Amino acid sequence: MNRILVYGGHVIDPASGIDERLDVLVVDGRIAEVGADLAAPEGADLLAASGLVVAPGFVDLHTHLREPGQEHKETIASGARAAARGGFTTICAMPNTEPALDSAAIIDGMLQRAQDVDCRVLPIGAVSKARAGKELTELSALRDAGAVAVSDDGDAVADTSLARRAFEYLADLDIPLAEHCEDPAIAQGGVMHDGAVSARLGLRGQPAAAELSIVQRDIALAEAAGAQFHACHISTEPSLQAIADARARGLHVTAEVTPHHLYLTHDVVAGSSDELLYDTNAKVNPPLRTDSDVQACIDALAGGVVDAVATDHAPHAAIDKQCEFDAAAFGISGLESAWGVVNSLVIAGRLTLSDAIERLTIGPVRAWNLDQGALIGLGTLQVGAPADLTLLSTDAVSRVQPASWASKGKNTPLDGHSLIGLVAATISQGRIVWDGREQ
Ligand code: DOR
Ligand code: ZN
Repeated sequence: MNRILVYGGHVIDPASGIDERLDVLVVDGRIAEVGADLAAPEGADLLAASGLVVAPGFVDLHTHLREPGQEHKETIASGARAAARGGFTTICAMPNTEPALDSAAIIDGMLQRAQDVDCRVLPIGAVSKARAGKELTELSALRDAGAVAVSDDGDAVADTSLARRAFEYLADLDIPLAEHCEDPAIAQGGVMHDGAVSARLGLRGQPAAAELSIVQRDIALAEAAGAQFHACHISTEPSLQAIADARARGLHVTAEVTPHHLYLTHDVVAGSSDELLYDTNAKVNPPLRTDSDVQACIDALAGGVVDAVATDHAPHAAIDKQCEFDAAAFGISGLESAWGVVNSLVIAGRLTLSDAIERLTIGPVRAWNLDQGALIGLGTLQVGAPADLTLLSTDAVSRVQPASWASKGKNTPLDGHSLIGLVAATISQGRIVWDGREQ
């Protein structure tokens, strides 16, 4: 029998309201007991957690793994290792692989390869075949193969009649359409936020209206169909307002924000070095926005209009970023810096520690109704729940050093930044998958 006693830590489990110094006993991949001064069973591994917060493992609703097709950017295994180091024990894998996750057989193959990696991988199926935006996939077959949501992320489902039919089918399937909210007719190939910085740099901008247009459309379509609309990586104040209004009307609308949209503005695109005019590592879709958008994202997260922090971990090879801005790939690798960013907001007094953990654990689980079947208790430390835990420092200063990351994607504009907080250890399905306590 495999046993681990995590002792002496400050346990925070937002789902059950626990916020005190306790021990956690793991037996055979499940939480067996949470209590004070638990005795270590014979043969148990002991994990000292004094000075650390013990939380449920983080759940990421938005991760890009590049397998199949672009394994030089990330494999399922390397992405899962990065997740473990970032405190994530469940990641939802976006379908923009090559080929796309657009059939039950391709999802099956992916799940096979994900079996023994360092975290749980839940697939997201494509909305349209090959993500081409023309023909719907067999949504019910994807759901039956394990898809926890469907998305054409990377692109919106731009064709409104296709989106309408997708929502109509999804109403009976009980999984959300996770929408990349960017109207291509408005974005028009913009490579950064349309504003003062894009004007100064002479780069084509995409306006906030590109996001709002799809948010409003999908609220209307989801309402008409009685389905769930999940808004991916929301980045602008007007979109957040529309989502808040829809939720206040009782619609099934959920939303996520990324660490980078909570922390960085479009000014970062201009880069900090004297030699370079811009930093391609800050090129991301949706783009980094204005300071008032960043503040609105933080407020919406703290106020509960946004259910989850999701990384949109988008690993790319160096060559995809070492080029002119227009040619560079969109995306930021985020799994291994997420906790430092979110905890830095806690330190700045913008979010309580318990809410920060909530938005990384039970928040995303509830948003997508993931705690079903073998996953009952996911995102919590309740007895019987999967033994997914992370041990967090909330005061250690950590420098973002992508060169030392497990992810193959070193692409982050946070390279060299100091953040407060680090992930000391992670247990996934009862196995210690990361232990950085001695490092
Ligand atoms: O920045 C992004 N990168 N945005 C997306 O929508 C897709 C992603 C990727 O797959 O690289
Ligand atoms: Zn994405």
